[in-house]
Amino acid sequence: MVKILVLNGPNLNRLGVREPAVYGKKTLKDLEEDLCQFSKNEKVQFSFFQSNHEGDVIDAIHDAEERFDGIILNPGAFTHYSYAIRDAISSVSIPVVEVHISNVHNRESFRHHSVTAPATIGQIVGFGFYGYQLAAQALIHHIRGNEGEITEN
Ligand code: DQA
Repeated sequence: MVKILVLNGPNLNRLGVREPAVYGKKTLKDLEEDLCQFSKNEKVQFSFFQSNHEGDVIDAIHDAEERFDGIILNPGAFTHYSYAIRDAISSVSIPVVEVHISNVHNRESFRHHSVTAPATIGQIVGFGFYGYQLAAQALIHHIRGNEGEITEN
């Protein structure tokens, strides 16, 4: 059983009411229920945590090392400027996949750059809530050791 922490950062508790044209009308609870549904067909167990506070996100990353096999992280706006979260990701040995619900690349220019992504094994952007399932599949694949299929240059 692969254990994954799904860690959502600031303002993601506002899903459903926050800019629905960008993030859709479904809530964070809907997102978590979708993942629980997904986990029924996969040997994966999710735990969920959301915080609006940078230090809490950092603590959650640190604490996850002993308890989980990997992290799906949507750092929200921290993505674009939190070197502290980037360092937290680099400080743990478990893999992290970064997810963004919206396509940050067709939005404001400040969203185009992620300071956190270089510390992750990869980033999934622009596929809505489905991106979390893609991230879970990528993490499971990575954790089970199949990532050697990809040749790096
Ligand atoms: C987001 C994109 C960020 O730019 C933004 O600050 C968020 C949500 C996304 O999931 O699309 O809070 O991470």
